[in-house]
Amino acid sequence: MITVHINDKTISVAPGTSILQAANQLGTTIPTMCYLQGLPHNTSCMICVVEDKNSGKLLPSCSAQVEEGMCIETDNARVREFRQDTLDLLLSEHIGDCQAPCQRVCPAFMNIPLMIRQIQQKDWTAAIRTVKKDIALPAVLGRICPAPCENSCNRRHHDEAVSICLLKRIVADIDLQMVEPFKPVCAADSGHRVAIVGAGPAGLSAAYYLAQCGHRCTLFDRHEHPGGNLRYAISDDRLAKSVLDAEIGKIIALGIELKMQQELGRQFQLDDLRSEFDAVVLTTGDIDTAYYRDTQLQHTSRGLKIDRQTLVTALSGVFAGGSLVSPSQMAVRAVGHGRTIA
Ligand code: SF4
Ligand code: FES
Repeated sequence: MITVHINDKTISVAPGTSILQAANQLGTTIPTMCYLQGLPHNTSCMICVVEDKNSGKLLPSCSAQVEEGMCIETDNARVREFRQDTLDLLLSEHIGDCQAPCQRVCPAFMNIPLMIRQIQQKDWTAAIRTVKKDIALPAVLGRICPAPCENSCNRRHHDEAVSICLLKRIVADIDLQMVEPFKPVCAADSGHRVAIVGAGPAGLSAAYYLAQCGHRCTLFDRHEHPGGNLRYAISDDRLAKSVLDAEIGKIIALGIELKMQQELGRQFQLDDLRSEFDAVVLTTGDIDTAYYRDTQLQHTSRGLKIDRQTLVTALSGVFAGGSLVSPSQMAVRAVGHGRTIA
């Protein structure tokens, strides 16, 4: 057994016992944050520090083990000052929740708290950069997204949810009116070419982020104009074509090649694309089971089978997203898929 002194008490405990466990046995409470009984400790918050008066060291009590003759003080001026500094440091990087509930439920995982802080500072350039880091079509989504983020807003417990969708729309609209709207930095040409089939929200989003990685993208679509369901299934009252065209224009301006009125299975085949391009992204919307049955792509009644993490299909180098892989009609989910594929 090992005998230690903790504050004004003495205890003998088995070797391997932590200072925290020994203190708890004496009924002494030490504050902790990252420690949870029963789980391995990772000693990251350092809130649990105590002072060993023998060595003069501050020790994380949740992981430091007792040593014979230790003389531990769990609450003195030095310990309190250290805990205070540690907490200040932790809070300086964590405003509000570590991960806000609104951000967790946004299918595009946009950093909503950061955008709101930047709006508060009237830093529109920073705000649009934050928005476009995850959402390629924010002015569009600002008009049609059902805003699942607002359902989880903590503010609802006081009065009503923050109007996140409207805030994002304002940021995007202001940017579209700028003389020099936001243009992301694109990496140097990677030498890789990507074919994207379907110029709807998922395909446009994939093109936007793949271009930023330096990949040369070609967008194929069976319609006359890009936009997919955003153009052909949503009324002008909800989404003005001028807004859609303006945001698509920003994506195409990154050097995307458009091949319109080109339909998979008619003007070209999947195998053609696989031999001509380094990767193929399928975002054709509803699944054409008759066509895909003849390829080696696997599908279920919900859509093409993919790896949910990478969105890669059963064929290497062929990715799929949007309503081709899940029946959800939410454009924000399709936009999120495009980002994930890139
Ligand atoms: S895209 Fe939709 S869910 Fe995501 S932040 Fe905007 S309104 Fe909320
Ligand atoms: S409780 Fe976090 S380091 Fe000990």
